[in-house]
Amino acid sequence: MAGVIIVGAQWGDEGKGKVVDIYTDEADLVVRYAGGPNAGHTLVVGSEKVVVRLVPSGILRRDALCLLGQGTVVDPKVLVGELDTLDAKGLSPRDRMRVAERAHVILSYHILVDGLREATTSAIGTTKRGVGPCYEDKAARRGIRLRDFRNRADLAARVTKALAAWAPTIVALGGEVPTVESVVEDAWAAGQNLLPLLADTAALTERALRDGKRVLFEGAQGTLLDVDHGTYPYVTSSSAIAGGACTGVGIGPSRIDAVVGLAKAYCTRVGGGPFPTELEGEVADRIRKVGAEFGSVTGRPRRVGWVDLPALRYAVRLNGLDSIALTKLDVLAGLQTIRACVAYDTPSGRTREFPVDELESATPVFSDFPGFSQDVSSAKSLEELPKEALDFVRFVEAEVECPLSIVSIGPGRDQTIVLAHPLRDA
Ligand code: GDP
Ligand code: IMO
Ligand code: MG
Repeated sequence: MAGVIIVGAQWGDEGKGKVVDIYTDEADLVVRYAGGPNAGHTLVVGSEKVVVRLVPSGILRRDALCLLGQGTVVDPKVLVGELDTLDAKGLSPRDRMRVAERAHVILSYHILVDGLREATTSAIGTTKRGVGPCYEDKAARRGIRLRDFRNRADLAARVTKALAAWAPTIVALGGEVPTVESVVEDAWAAGQNLLPLLADTAALTERALRDGKRVLFEGAQGTLLDVDHGTYPYVTSSSAIAGGACTGVGIGPSRIDAVVGLAKAYCTRVGGGPFPTELEGEVADRIRKVGAEFGSVTGRPRRVGWVDLPALRYAVRLNGLDSIALTKLDVLAGLQTIRACVAYDTPSGRTREFPVDELESATPVFSDFPGFSQDVSSAKSLEELPKEALDFVRFVEAEVECPLSIVSIGPGRDQTIVLAHPLRDA
């Protein structure tokens, strides 16, 4: 049995797509456990770049079965569009893809509400994909699930109830309430297209684990965007942390053998909310440009900042990380000085903890490191890194008290220094 979770340790976009693709080499099953089309996971093979929002990042490896667990929220049109695109590349994704029949569905009114709210002063900078309102419906027990697409009259009856609940909100926000028929019609064809893929993904995953198969649980978003533990209310609406893999897929915690946390050698954030190590000016522009830090879903420029070690320690603790995959080290090349936040000064004194609810009044304390000028993107081992780069990497590892399993030095598959392979070693 080998169940390994890949989880974002920062505010998302840490390179989960790339690392899942690398590890899928050794996996039989790849399962997304949370989030929806708010995610954008980038896979780079040779000169080709593929961005997946719902389809698990294992899809490019032809041997792996890919599942969307019931903790995810599915926009049928987005998923069908992605499958068609992958189909056109000759990957036959439908042969290797199953979707939880109990996964909740994003419908047009979820996207409408998300967009209307983002136009108000209480906007939080969501991806406007309807993810938050869909999870709200799930918690309010009026959500639509993919299995409801088996019967159109039944679906319409459920949509009628949900829409009645949303109508006052839509009107108050200045929107127009859509008709039940228009909502159903909008999603019906895509929903029908997905019916052959529906399955009991929890049972499939458990069976695979019992049969000794190797399962990768692919996280979306990141620890600091988790609805319970992130920088609330500037978070997403799902359990992004490793624990979310158990509830989101429907397997027991005893099935997990290892948890790998992904972190950039610096930090980014998209959307609103506190970001104490945020940078502005020339260094920020340089990191954004070299690191191509523009949202893969929305195209928004990502906010950039120095690596936050108290936040990373928080992620090590919350996820029970066994190792960290440190990505985008190459992006720091050419900077005169590299900084790392090592502690915070707060009104109650200096702390090495991440003051998640006091970030507005906390000041980061930095350690400075000399930069490195050499291009590191073709290094094959840590020994090939310039001393300054290696010293920085070793400092991060020691400070967060968690060993590194990967140091990533470029977007490509071969730009990866693999120090430990949790699936092979489990
Ligand atoms: P995800 O949401 O965690 O899967 O990350 P995204 O795909 O949204 O963003 C990460 C971006 O960084 C993608 O464009 C990747 O191709 C790229 N990337 C991943 N690892 C590295 C790396 O080590 N160096 C560089 N330069 N780019 C990387
Ligand atoms: P991946 O999986 C980065 C952020 C949004 C916003 C907040 C809430 O690619 O790492 P939502 O649309 O979820 O209601 O938005 O969460 N956000 C992400 N930021 N990467 C993501 O996914 C994100 N998914 C959501 O920018 O701040
Ligand atoms: Mg992303």
